[in-house]
Amino acid sequence: MKYVIYISTSTSLFADAELEGILTISQKNNAINKLTGMLLYSEGCFVQVLEGDALAVETIYQKIKRDSRHKNIIELAQGQLTERIFPFWSMGFKAISNGELEKFEAYANPEENSLWDKDADHPALIVLKTFALSNRL
Ligand SMILES: Cc1cc2nc3c(=O)[nH]c(=O)nc-3n(C[C@H](O)[C@H](O)[C@H](O)COP(=O)(O)O)c2cc1C
Repeated sequence: MKYVIYISTSTSLFADAELEGILTISQKNNAINKLTGMLLYSEGCFVQVLEGDALAVETIYQKIKRDSRHKNIIELAQGQLTERIFPFWSMGFKAISNGELEKFEAYANPEENSLWDKDADHPALIVLKTFALSNRL
């Protein structure tokens, strides 16, 4: 099992509908490819953790890097996992204006999912938590 975590900048400020578009396709594709993870968005900045079989992670990561909806992709870490950090989320998601997004099945509100209560000793969790707290998500 492999994980990768990156940050990026959206090429324009995203409206809810555009975020929903990414979320919808991600949840569909990721379920098929047995990928799980978390995507956070705030005012033009993304941070995403992807986890799954190495080949599946590498394939979608290459595709995501070519997506013209974001730029300045900086890989923060990648490595091996013995077990998933987000076993139940094909792509957990959190944005500042999230009213409409809550209807998605895999929507994950960090506060409600006690994600941040876990011992945040994994780099992926530390980065997500720092991003969320810095942006008051
Ligand atoms: C920030 C960001 C995160 C994305 N995350 C995923 C993801 O986790 N899974 C996924 O399938 N597509 C994700 N996408 C969308 C892909 O880049 C791509 O548009 C999508 O997989 C559809 O590809 P296709 O048209 O070749 O089927 C993401 C896009 C962006 C901008």
